[in-house]
Amino acid sequence: MNILVTGGAGYVGSVVTEHLLREGHNVTVLDNLQQGHREAVLAPAEFVLGDISDSDTLQSVFRRHSIEAVMHMAADTLVGASMTDPRRYFHNNLTGGISLLNAMLDHGVSTMVFSSTAAVYGEPLSAPIDEGHPTNPINSYGQSKLMFETVLDWYRRAYGIQCISFRYFCAAGATAALGEDHRPETHLIPNILRAALNRDAGLSVFGTDYPTKDGTCIRDYIHVADVAQAHILALDKADSLSGNVYNLGNGEGYSVLDAIKVAETVVGSKIQVEFCPRRSGDPVTLVASSHRAAQELGWRPGFPDLGSIVESAWRWLKDHPDGYRH
Ligand SMILES: NC(=O)c1ccc[n+]([C@@H]2O[C@H](COP(=O)([O-])OP(=O)(O)OC[C@H]3O[C@@H](n4cnc5c(N)ncnc54)[C@H](O)[C@@H]3O)[C@@H](O)[C@H]2O)c1
Repeated sequence: MNILVTGGAGYVGSVVTEHLLREGHNVTVLDNLQQGHREAVLAPAEFVLGDISDSDTLQSVFRRHSIEAVMHMAADTLVGASMTDPRRYFHNNLTGGISLLNAMLDHGVSTMVFSSTAAVYGEPLSAPIDEGHPTNPINSYGQSKLMFETVLDWYRRAYGIQCISFRYFCAAGATAALGEDHRPETHLIPNILRAALNRDAGLSVFGTDYPTKDGTCIRDYIHVADVAQAHILALDKADSLSGNVYNLGNGEGYSVLDAIKVAETVVGSKIQVEFCPRRSGDPVTLVASSHRAAQELGWRPGFPDLGSIVESAWRWLKDHPDGYRH
């Protein structure tokens, strides 16, 4: 198929593109490079520099590349920034997404796989979180994604868009060619590993007074290749499972200090930590139940333990100590 990957120069999108190419699809990546890297778009994917809010760009991409399905990953994703600048989040993640849907309608494209987020749940009432858990986002990032899920569902009901959304937890790890290089980097695993590689980098731990066993937040980590695999499965089943949302995670919670210990074992040295106040918008605990994805999509994580996820990220970082070149 001819597939458009929005945000395909970013961390998850580049790995989804790699998987789609491996499956024999023709991939066009649309990315404005506000965060992604041109070098992360593997050949023979076609790269188009542009914004999902720009309708002229969208019209030209859908026409010239005869797009048949969309994997939508382009977004602003920083929880902290979403608390101080919600305007940006609703503009990009909601309005931008609607422009994309409208371009799909204009060109008769009816399949979308959407990267949503576990941030739609807010503070969990129970763990692990399944898809029936109430949604009550506590940051505008999660709210903007939830609002787009709602819009997508109306487009499904009214216009027959076939869609599957993934609410995933913390993606981490790397493939041999592609890894995580956000600037700034706010994700824990790459920051721990950068601190291990470069002793001057330091590692900040935000919040030590959460109601958890060691006072730090608890998260569920999932390998980026497992996220990509789920997107491929969804593409194949978008007609029969349209309208469904799936959680993706490994079902095991690690505190920030647990994750640091796992990483210390992988890198074989102690990591220097600076303890800082809580960051606004961070839920205490996020652990997924991926039971539904396993049952209905046949999704099985290839990297179910944090050690193997961290090992893959460490290998990539040692090969790319400065991340992607610019
Ligand atoms: N990384 C995670 O742990 C995680 C967890 C849950 C959900 N997600 C979701 O997965 C998606 C990908 O996350 P990521 O970590 O790869 O983020 P990322 O920032 O690495 O990738 C997003 C890409 O989208 C591009 N982009 C942003 N706005 C755009 C626009 N208006 N037009 C065109 N391109 C635009 C950026 O340049 C970037 O390359 C996001 O939608 C995010 O909300 C990520």
